[in-house]
Amino acid sequence: MPPPKLKLPSPFPYLIILSILLFFLYSTLLLPRSSTSSSTTAAATATSCNFFQGQWVLQEKPSKPFYDASCPFHRNAWNCLRNQRDNIDIINSWQWVPKDCSLPRIRPERFLRMMRNKNIGFVGDSLNENFLVAFLCVLRVADNTAKKWKKKGAWRGAYFPKFNVTVAYHRAVLLAKYEWQPTISPPGNDELKGIHRVDVDVPADDWATITNFYDVLIFNTGHWWGYDKFPKEKPLVFYRSGQPINPPLELSDGLKVVLEHMVSYIEKAVPPKTLKFWRLQSPRHFYGGDWNQNGSCLFNEPLKEHELDLWFDPSNNGVNKEARQVNRVIVETLQGSDIRILDLTHMSEFRADAHPAIWLGKKDAVAIWGQDCMHWCLPGLPDTWVDILSELIRNSLETR
Ligand SMILES: *[C@@H]1O[C@H](CO)[C@@H](O)[C@H](O)[C@H]1NC(C)=O
Ligand SMILES: *[C@@H]1O[C@H](CO)[C@@H](O)[C@H](O)[C@H]1NC(C)=O
Repeated sequence: MPPPKLKLPSPFPYLIILSILLFFLYSTLLLPRSSTSSSTTAAATATSCNFFQGQWVLQEKPSKPFYDASCPFHRNAWNCLRNQRDNIDIINSWQWVPKDCSLPRIRPERFLRMMRNKNIGFVGDSLNENFLVAFLCVLRVADNTAKKWKKKGAWRGAYFPKFNVTVAYHRAVLLAKYEWQPTISPPGNDELKGIHRVDVDVPADDWATITNFYDVLIFNTGHWWGYDKFPKEKPLVFYRSGQPINPPLELSDGLKVVLEHMVSYIEKAVPPKTLKFWRLQSPRHFYGGDWNQNGSCLFNEPLKEHELDLWFDPSNNGVNKEARQVNRVIVETLQGSDIRILDLTHMSEFRADAHPAIWLGKKDAVAIWGQDCMHWCLPGLPDTWVDILSELIRNSLETR
């Protein structure tokens, strides 16, 4: 008897399909992704997604901010919940929707786990401090044992013990070193009381020696490069190699020279593996006058796209034109460096509605200082900056 002919069992085709399916599932879902395939995916997301272009959309059911007025890292003047700012709920009901992709909200726990034993540093002016406070209050959700952190040279920050992560801010408004030098006025000239000496080639002590501590650094400067901070009778005078630059530089040329020196210092002094960002200008929204001319920002909703140029294009010579002017110089200077541009300007230009305005938490503050149409309410817009920054950090660290 010949052996019985092997007869194909009838479920055979199903088995083939099933095994193909299983193999497919196994290879795509269950096999740990090889580092090359995961890095190409992450790189693709990172490069194809431009978080900086998009629009603000009013959410009917907005997600709740991660923190409230009780976050211990608040600065009173930006704590709009505590200061009972009108519209604070509406401010936080607008969601930034990038044009070609979606911006996930930060997941504080996952983010801090990824950053274990790493540190993030902000260097610059109070707008970076505004950014820092939002970041600290968001991250605290994942570690409420967070401690205020202060180290010589550091303005402020926090340590997250559960993850051994420090996030801090170093105040250096011009980035370069500068100091007040009183002068004895020549007889008959009472106007010149002194100068602010800026050493264009010397980084400010507050950050020059700390850069090794950080795995991620976010720089900014810009808000102090104006004649309101340094009026003509107390001018900035620029020095190089210890000597006054001759002929003396105007403010805008001084900015350019300082940026060039600071960028080359960063490239030299900061280890190449450190992730470096430069945050472009945070726009101001003074309407009807500058900050010291009763300028106001009592707006109930973001500006419309077609209004932005009117407000911010330098050719219209508006009160708030400096953001784009400063950006031009920064972008030019950063070309060819490995510092990545964090272009939060455009998305922030819309948000005339999101400043503390008259709700500053102090009687008389408005009468003395005017409205604050420069910093941002917290919770508020900087929480979206946090989402973007954390996503960019995640993309970069995961492609390494
Ligand atoms: C915490 O992180 C630092 C780096 O920032 C590292 O040097 C140190 O060993 C870490 N500590 C612990 C307990 O892991
Ligand atoms: C600002 O407003 C106050 C009070 O209304 C007024 O006295 C002052 O002149 C105004 N200042 C400017 C620069 O317009």
